[in-house]
Amino acid sequence: MYDLISTTTTDLHRLTSCSITISSNGSDHITSLKGQNTIIFAGSRGIGRATAIKLGQEEANIAVGYAGNEEAANKTVDLVKQSGGQAFPFRADVSDDDAVHDAFDQTEKTFGDVDIVINAAAVSVFGPMVNLSTDDLEKSVAVNILGAFHVLREAAKRIADNGRIIQFSTGGTKMPMMGASIYTGTKAAGESMALGLSKELGDKGVTVNVISPGVTDTDGLVMDEDQVKSLIQQTPLGRLGQPEDVADVVSFLCSREARWINGQNIQANGGIL
Ligand SMILES: NC(=O)c1ccc[n+]([C@@H]2O[C@H](COP(=O)([O-])OP(=O)(O)OC[C@H]3O[C@@H](n4cnc5c(N)ncnc54)[C@H](OP(=O)(O)O)[C@@H]3O)[C@@H](O)[C@H]2O)c1
Repeated sequence: MYDLISTTTTDLHRLTSCSITISSNGSDHITSLKGQNTIIFAGSRGIGRATAIKLGQEEANIAVGYAGNEEAANKTVDLVKQSGGQAFPFRADVSDDDAVHDAFDQTEKTFGDVDIVINAAAVSVFGPMVNLSTDDLEKSVAVNILGAFHVLREAAKRIADNGRIIQFSTGGTKMPMMGASIYTGTKAAGESMALGLSKELGDKGVTVNVISPGVTDTDGLVMDEDQVKSLIQQTPLGRLGQPEDVADVVSFLCSREARWINGQNIQANGGIL
């Protein structure tokens, strides 16, 4: 054991050379997701679209999910194809168990066994609790909780050995925000189910992780200008997150290099938390 006060320069050299040896063991591999069959629930817009394009650049095969916006999904498919990947759109409301099941069927039929499953679907209902209705809660439960369960359970049944499952949560489950009680409450359930699942698939070499973005510039950003300015001020990196910032983290978690990361909730937020 070393403490900082009694550490000598020689100790420091020893520690540094040790860490170089360890890191060089894992750095010889070129990351490639080429041919990895991927389903992205909510791949049509925002972070899901940026993820589809990023994985497409790495020549993955992508099934691009949407709930109602077919035009957006088709646009994502075109962008993936332009970036070098293969893609097709599928319609699946994650609150519908059968639709999720069919999405896996369609992906297996088109590409083969599924290697990567990403669930970015969410309903974002915001407002002070006194103004929220039971209906607001039920809509959020249907997508953020039941939807997460449908996707995670189907992924657990069908994912290929050494696959990757990624569930989206939000930094809001760690940093309570005014007006976000239903959103963060229901996202926390999806997050927790995914982390629980990470304990169940180790015998197949499958990892399950959560990514929790901070405030990210998408259609899902439902804050006024002052709230966004205040969040930027609280962010050490001093800007709003872009979908590509988060998509790069997804790509890393899907890579071979991330094989030892399992059951983690990765905060992708510029350091606000
Ligand atoms: N943006 C942020 O600031 C932020 C912060 C923290 C966490 N997140 C999380 O990151 C993820 C992506 O958010 P985003 O902001 O990129 O989303 P977004 O731009 O608002 O897009 C929403 C996406 O969800 C799909 N969707 C909506 N309801 C669905 C349902 N019932 N079933 C399947 N798909 C559904 C939409 O499909 P259509 O195009 O068909 O409508 C669309 O692809 C979400 O899980 C969100 O909770 C976002």
